[in-house]
Amino acid sequence: MPKLYITGGNKLQGEINLHGAKNSVLPLLSATVLCKGKSVIHNCPKISDVGVSIKILENLGCKCTQEGNTVAVDTDTIDGYNIPDNLMREMRSSIVFLGAIAGRMKRAVVSNPGGCELGPRPINMHLSALRKMGLQIEENHGFLDCNAKDGLTGTELFLPFASVGATENIILAAVLAKGTTVIHNSAREPEIIDLADFLNDAGADIRGAGTDIIVINGVKELYAVEHRVIPDRIAAATYICAAGITRGSIMLNNVEPNHFAVPLNFFKECGCKIICSDSKIYVNALNCINAVSEIKTSVYPGFPTDAGPTMISLLSVANGTSLFVENIFQNRYKYIDELIRLGCNIKTQGNVAVIEGVERLSAASVECTDLRGGAALVVAALAADGTSEINKIYHIERGYENIVDNLARLGADIRKEM
Ligand code: EPU
Repeated sequence: MPKLYITGGNKLQGEINLHGAKNSVLPLLSATVLCKGKSVIHNCPKISDVGVSIKILENLGCKCTQEGNTVAVDTDTIDGYNIPDNLMREMRSSIVFLGAIAGRMKRAVVSNPGGCELGPRPINMHLSALRKMGLQIEENHGFLDCNAKDGLTGTELFLPFASVGATENIILAAVLAKGTTVIHNSAREPEIIDLADFLNDAGADIRGAGTDIIVINGVKELYAVEHRVIPDRIAAATYICAAGITRGSIMLNNVEPNHFAVPLNFFKECGCKIICSDSKIYVNALNCINAVSEIKTSVYPGFPTDAGPTMISLLSVANGTSLFVENIFQNRYKYIDELIRLGCNIKTQGNVAVIEGVERLSAASVECTDLRGGAALVVAALAADGTSEINKIYHIERGYENIVDNLARLGADIRKEM
């Protein structure tokens, strides 16, 4: 199985271009299902989750082509409504296809994505909302057989939690539904705005994306569009942590600093000098040495849960003790045992991690437990004495394009072995 070898100690220096956001491109690819003709998505990251989405689209009968960072999806030949169980299992977020398939085909057969590396992954809010919109869902042995013979109908919905995936699924189901759908307590992440922008360009009528009330007036048809995916704010935070832990200085191109203002403030609190201009961030981490008193993850615009693991790696070499509270996922700390192998001093109790900064980290053989936890191991290994071996890197490849080349370009001693 492919693995990474990283010899720590090199300061990162130079500049790289950031890729498009994984968490935007996945709902965007499912949104193409709703559009007649051939939609074209630019700035599409070359990551394995995109590969899975393309397989799902092809399985539905769409014609997909991928050239560099552009993916085209022609839905004129769509005739399927089923996502095979192996694809649902490969990418739990494939549930976001449900709203789109039901909206276009008035029928969908998918399987329950079940739990994942981050703990239970319930979809109760997705299903309850879609049922209220008229989707009949029969749950049988983990399979969901869904029917909306007469189409879906808009209604007023209240989300008990501002779930990103549920908001996306409802938007996707609502754009072609009869009448008006109102989502109260909707998620406000930039990825929701990106999805709404795509669909509005395709002819939808969505208002309020980016706020906690979204109103969708159903339309008859949507047409193919050309769209550029927003930059990946979590990948940007990952590279800043990598610069921080090596006390380097880097320039990130193709970023949107406004999408992660809260993490940027914490990097400054750690001692990083950060200069933002339009789509660039310059980071000088020479004095990135301070612990922070407390970080709590929360929904946007709060500190994103996905930026937590790499931040914890960075805080592991800070002067003093930091507190990290994970409020979004129940079981996100599996990677911490692996960080401890690299010399980090972290204690967890429930959703709280106490990070005691240490002077030096030391190389070890470690295993990725999930995508962002894997990135945290890479960040820590960049500062560890000696050569670390990082296994199960398929987790990292789900969400980071060219991470090895990018870090090598910045001066890291990193290589991938097949
Ligand atoms: N939840 C429920 N019921 C539901 C839906 C969610 O209880 O019906 C709970 C979840 O179990 C979780 C919380 O609500 O505890 C938040 O889940 P949310 O639905 O907001 O997350 P998601 O849509 O499944 C997306 C990202 C995640 C990111 C979260 C939170 C995608 C493809 N995934 O997941 O990204 O952590 O929002 O921001 O957009 C990652 O990129 O590494 C990643 C895990």
